[in-house]
Amino acid sequence: MSDQQGTIESHPLGAKTYPPSPEFRAAANQQDPSIYWRAAEDPEAYWAEQARKLRWTKPFTEILDWSNPPFAKWFADGELNVSANCLDRHVEAGLGDRVAFHFEGEPGDTRTITYAELTAEVKRAANMLTSLGVQQGDRVAIYMPMIPETVIAMLAVARLGATHSVVFGGFSAESLRSRIDDAAAKLVITADGGFRKGRVSALKPTVDDALSLDTGTELSVEHVLVVERGGNDVSMQEGRDLWWHEEITAFDAEHTAKGFPAENPLFILYTSGTTGRPKGIVHTSGGYLTQTSTTHRDAFDLKPETDVYWCTADVGWVTGHSYAVYGPLANGTTQVLYEGTPDTPDWGRWWEIVQKYGVTIFYTAPTAIRACMKVGRQVPEQYDLSSIRVLGSVGEPINPEAWRWYREVIGAGSAPIVDTWWQTETGAFMISPLPGLTTLKPGSAQIAQPGIAVNVVDDAGNPVERGQGGLLIVERPWPSMVRTIWGDDQRFIDTYWSKFGDRYFAGDGARLDEDGDVWLLGRVDDVMNVSGHRLSTAEIESALVEHHAVAEAAVVGADDETTGQAVVAFVILKSQQHLLTPENAEGELKKHVASQIGAIARPRQIFVVSELPKTRSGKIMRRLLKDAAEGREVGDTTTLADTMVMQTISDRVRAER
Ligand code: WT7
Repeated sequence: MSDQQGTIESHPLGAKTYPPSPEFRAAANQQDPSIYWRAAEDPEAYWAEQARKLRWTKPFTEILDWSNPPFAKWFADGELNVSANCLDRHVEAGLGDRVAFHFEGEPGDTRTITYAELTAEVKRAANMLTSLGVQQGDRVAIYMPMIPETVIAMLAVARLGATHSVVFGGFSAESLRSRIDDAAAKLVITADGGFRKGRVSALKPTVDDALSLDTGTELSVEHVLVVERGGNDVSMQEGRDLWWHEEITAFDAEHTAKGFPAENPLFILYTSGTTGRPKGIVHTSGGYLTQTSTTHRDAFDLKPETDVYWCTADVGWVTGHSYAVYGPLANGTTQVLYEGTPDTPDWGRWWEIVQKYGVTIFYTAPTAIRACMKVGRQVPEQYDLSSIRVLGSVGEPINPEAWRWYREVIGAGSAPIVDTWWQTETGAFMISPLPGLTTLKPGSAQIAQPGIAVNVVDDAGNPVERGQGGLLIVERPWPSMVRTIWGDDQRFIDTYWSKFGDRYFAGDGARLDEDGDVWLLGRVDDVMNVSGHRLSTAEIESALVEHHAVAEAAVVGADDETTGQAVVAFVILKSQQHLLTPENAEGELKKHVASQIGAIARPRQIFVVSELPKTRSGKIMRRLLKDAAEGREVGDTTTLADTMVMQTISDRVRAER
C-alpha cells in the first residue's frame, strides 16, 4: 500500500464545505444532478451524444468496441479531422475573429491570434510538413518552448493524420533521443531557444546533441525544423536543418483537411513508469477529442463566448495537450499562452497577466499555489483578479490549506475550485467536481465525471469499506483512455490490466468518504510526484549508477513542503574510484542526473552511504530510506540483513537536516 496513506486526512466530520452559490448554479452548464444517473445508466449513449457535438467527416455507427480487452476502440467506423475540429469548424461558424490565443512572451512581447489566423497558420504549416514528406502515421517529435508555433506544429501534424510526440523542453539530449528512437520520428520541430527566467534557454543545441549520440539505433530523423525565437546562435546542418520562417513563406494557407479514422493515433506522450524506461502513452483521435472537450466544457463551466481561460501547464505534459490545446480549442475557447515562469521578472507576473487579459478560468498545480503562498498574499493582492470565476487544480492532491488560500486570495473567496484527478494515461478528467452541482470539500477530487465509473478496491479487487484506503480503479473503458504503450502491447497489459482483469489499475491509492467522495492518497508504486510531474525512482537510480563513480543507488520521494515530493538519493561510491569524494559527490551527481534526464529530475539531496538497507534476499527497502529522508523514526528493520545499516543512515540524514 501507499507510503503516503494518511497524508491527506479523511474529511474531518463537520469541516467546512462549499456549495455552489445559487447564482453560479443558475448559470452553470451543468445544473441538473440527473446528468450523473442518466450517464451512468448508459455511458456509451452519453459519450456518443458528446461525440456527436464534434464534426465527423464520416459519422460513426459503432460506439465502444471492447471485444478485445484491454484494447478499446471508440467510434471506430467514424472519421474526423482533429485539427479541423479545433479550427476550421469555428471559422466556418463565423467565429474567425474570436481570439484563440493571447500570447505573452516572457520578455513581454505579445501576440494576439484569432481563430482565423491560427487556422491559416496551421494550414500553411501543414503544407510545409507535407513537403517534408510527413504523412498519415508518421511520427514527428516536437521539442519547443511555450510559443504559438508549438501549438501550430501540433495541429499541423494532427491535420495530416500524423502522430506527434511532444518532448518537454526541459528534458536532456539523452531523454530526447531515447524518445525519438522509440517512436522512430522522421522530423523534429524545435526552436533555437526560448525565454526562461530572464534568459534564453537553448533548445536547438540539445537537439544537435541528441541526434549525434551513438545510441546503437539508426537515426530515424530526416529533418529538423527550427523556429526562431530565442535569437541565440545555433548551427544548422546543411540538408538536414531548416528554418521554419524561411520554409513557410513558400506555402499558402489553403489546405483541405481530410478525415481520418477515429482510432488514428493522435499523439504519443512519454511518461515515467515503475521501470527505468519511459512509456510511450498512445492516444487516438475521436474518443480523445470527445472526452477532453466535454470535460473541459463541464468541469470548468466554460462559456466560450465570454470566458478567458488560462491553463499554466507546459504543452510538454499531458495537461498542456488536453487542456491547453485540444479540449479548449475544440470548444472554441479564448486562451492565454504564457512562455515563461511565474517568478519572472517577479512573483506578480501571473497575476499581472490575469488582470491584463481578464482571465476568468485559471488552472494550475498545487505546487505553484504553495510557492505563491510562500511569497505571500500581498503580491496577488496588488492586482485586480476579480475576473476570475472558476479555479482548477491538477497534478497531486491539493492540501486543504492551499485550497483555502487559492479560493480566498485568487478566487475572491467565491470561485469554485475544481480539483481534477486524471493521468497521462486517462487523457482527460476522470474525477472532478462539476462546479454548478458539487458541494466542494477541500482536498478531495470528489466525483467521477458523468459517464465514468471508478471504485476503490483491495488487492483482491473487492471494494473496500468507505473510509478505508485501497487502490483506485476505473470500472469501464472511457473514450480518452490510453490505447497502448507505443510498440509494447505486453507492457500495456502488464502495467494496467494484469491486476484486476478488464478494470483499469491507476496506480494511485484512494479512499471513499461517507458520502462516496474520492480522496486521492498518492501513488502506490515506485513513481514519485515532484511538482505535479511524474518521475520514476528506477529511472533516476539507473541514471545514477551510470555515473562511473557510483556503485549502487536508491531513490525515494520524500515529502516536500513546496514540491509535494522531492527526490532524495542514497548512493554508494565505488571504492576504487578517485574522482569523487563524499564531499564533492552530491553536487556532481545532482548535475549528472539533470544532464541525463533533465533538470526536473535533479535530486534535492544525495547522501553518500556505505551500505543500503536490504532484505536478506537483497531487495532494497526504500520505505525505510523514505522514513529517514522525511526525518521520521525508521520503521520496522527486523527483515534487514544488517539491522545497523539504517541507524547509520538516519544519523547521517539527521546530521544534515
Ligand atoms: C498522477 C498522474 C494529469 C495531469 C498531471 C499529471 C497524480 C494528478 C491529481 C489530483 C491527486 C493527482 C496521481 C496520478 N495526480 N492529478 N487532482 N489529485 N493526485 O499527470 O504525470 O500522468 O501523473 O498524478 O498520482 O496518478 P501524470
